[in-house]
Amino acid sequence: MTALLSIRPLTATDAATYRALRLQALRDHPEAFGASYEDEAARSLETTAKRLDGGPLNCIFGAFAGDYLVGTAGFVVPDRSTKFRHKGLLVGVHVAPAHRGKALGRRLVAAVIDHARSHVVLLQAAVGVANAPALRLYESLGFRHYGREEKALRVDGAFVDEALIVLDFAAEG
Ligand SMILES: CC(C)(COP(=O)(O)OP(=O)(O)OC[C@H]1O[C@@H](n2cnc3c(N)ncnc32)[C@H](O)[C@@H]1OP(=O)(O)O)[C@@H](O)C(=O)NCCC(=O)NCCS
Repeated sequence: MTALLSIRPLTATDAATYRALRLQALRDHPEAFGASYEDEAARSLETTAKRLDGGPLNCIFGAFAGDYLVGTAGFVVPDRSTKFRHKGLLVGVHVAPAHRGKALGRRLVAAVIDHARSHVVLLQAAVGVANAPALRLYESLGFRHYGREEKALRVDGAFVDEALIVLDFAAEG
């Protein structure tokens, strides 16, 4: 029987389970994330718990199969100063391998979009140009390409170019 799947914002009480899934994501897909496994593994659980209590401009949604956290997608407004606070970032999108292909990624990103809509005008993301699953997912949810950052990441000596994509809430009909 498939455990009930649900999506909700994470809180500090989810810190240990979030940390475990996050480290798995960074170890398995170093080219997909700006953070590195080593940097994140060195962080304390308290730091992670604080991150999860960041408020509506710095939050992470989790997908649960029963009690188990199996996916995440985050939202952050990196610069809250007057001329920049209309821009948010979609970050940390990841679904555990055993739970992929079941629309969890889509539901997680949709949850971030719904949340972001009431806080920012633009929701931006950066995606490795070779990451076809993530690109297809974001494109199908309405993100459009506005650029490409060459050598955006350096992973084990190799460079990763990233596609810059955006969802413009002001342009929605
Ligand atoms: C990208 C990722 C989050 C997708 O999660 P998922 O739960 O498997 O995705 P879904 O089942 O919700 O699929 C939604 C859409 O994504 C796209 N997609 C998902 N997996 C795909 C694949 N293997 N190949 C091509 N497109 C794929 C499709 O457009 C799919 O829609 P469809 O089923 O109608 O064709 C998951 O593959 C993952 O965690 N990858 C590793 C980490 C990563 O790359 N994160 C993104 C960082 S920018």
